[in-house]
Amino acid sequence: MASHKKLIISREAIATRVRELAAQISRDYTSKNLMLIGILKGGFIFLADLARALDYPVQVDFVRLRSYGAGTKTSGEVHISKDVELPVKDRHVLIVEDIVDAGLTLDFLLGHLAGYQPASLKICCLIDKKERRQVEVPLDYVGFTIEKGFLVGYGLDSGEKFRTLPDIYEIVE
Ligand code: IMP
Ligand code: MG
Repeated sequence: MASHKKLIISREAIATRVRELAAQISRDYTSKNLMLIGILKGGFIFLADLARALDYPVQVDFVRLRSYGAGTKTSGEVHISKDVELPVKDRHVLIVEDIVDAGLTLDFLLGHLAGYQPASLKICCLIDKKERRQVEVPLDYVGFTIEKGFLVGYGLDSGEKFRTLPDIYEIVE
């Protein structure tokens, strides 16, 4: 049977939650010279909205991480294909990620960035998807929590499809 998409999080709900997260982050990092590090490609839309909703300007950089394999299941091996370019040492760093699934991607990135000795290192993810978690990662700011399902839209893709949809959908078989 052909798969279809079911609306899970509307653009209005996303916008409201992004504003709430931005307000909390703005308070927590007042006078701390925050740097956002986005994970490409999935996190680019969330980061763009979050960054513009903060109360003050921040620095922005990106890493590009890949897990081997192109399916909807993570293969377990993460590698870095583009590193940060701004100096991270002694900076207050907030990683901005679209969705946490097994946790392997963020677990890898936390270890990698910790090697640069930031002043602090925290995580903001839009979606915490709990069912397949293999590694516990400390999620400091979470937009939405879901149990399972493969989501697309608002930066999230399925084989490079659906990434630019403004709402978030679940792919249902
Ligand atoms: P993990 O936490 O190491 O399993 O990997 C998380 C990464 O897998 C995310 O950054 C996404 O790129 C991708 N991913 C996991 N779940 C989904 C999903 O439901 N839709 C789209 N991408 C996903
Ligand atoms: Mg991602």
